[in-house]
Amino acid sequence: MRRLLFAANWKMHLGPDDARGYVKTFRARYNRRDDREVWFFPPAVSVEAAALAVRERTDLLVGAQDIYWEPKGAFTGAVSAPLALQAGARAALVGHSERRHVFGETDEDTRRKVAAALAAGLVPLLCVGETLAERDAGHTLAVVVRQLAGALSSLDGPTLSRVSVAYEPVWAIGTGRNATPHDAATVHREIRAWLRGRGASAPRVLYGGSVNAKNVAELVAEHELDGVLVGGASLDPEGWAQLVQSGVA
Ligand code: PGA
Repeated sequence: MRRLLFAANWKMHLGPDDARGYVKTFRARYNRRDDREVWFFPPAVSVEAAALAVRERTDLLVGAQDIYWEPKGAFTGAVSAPLALQAGARAALVGHSERRHVFGETDEDTRRKVAAALAAGLVPLLCVGETLAERDAGHTLAVVVRQLAGALSSLDGPTLSRVSVAYEPVWAIGTGRNATPHDAATVHREIRAWLRGRGASAPRVLYGGSVNAKNVAELVAEHELDGVLVGGASLDPEGWAQLVQSGVA
């Protein structure tokens, strides 16, 4: 059975109280289905509240939006993978476009963060994607492969099998423009081939960038997509419940 993953990236929204209320509303509105999983990425301060709110549900999971690679120490303001785990996170986004482009995160940073997530037992969800200039120059695949190699090339097959990837073209994030299902599938095929070629079994590749309740069915109808990573359209729990339910398997 195809099992789709719907991941909600709340970015810098929803504090602990909001997170509790959100999950409560979501759970009231979402009819659990065996063919989908729902992951939530709250801001660090809300990870524990969200994790407690989903705790007895195996189809719901909470992750961190970012982690620092050192496990502990004098790194003011940073959250390590073991700290995120202790708060209830089971996954971590790594290399989200905003981390790369607003905070200057490099491929080397993503490599360290993926390794730190794996060492702590978190599932790394590595985000990759090209800018509009890179796409217009015909460099989409080269950029994506460079980001994959930068973060993942030192991992062996069994370890790589524990990593998920989200393809999020930078020009599609928060802009209302998204890749056509066909264009997304072309890049997904390359990502999957890259992962498989290094020994990953059943790699999971999500699509992200302006996914909403209107376009999600068309996107996930494309079998190269194992699910979606959603920002803006995940912030309202009722709308998110509707979006998760409207994707076709
Ligand atoms: P968006 O964000 O759905 O608001 O475009 C997606 C993301 O940044 O993960």
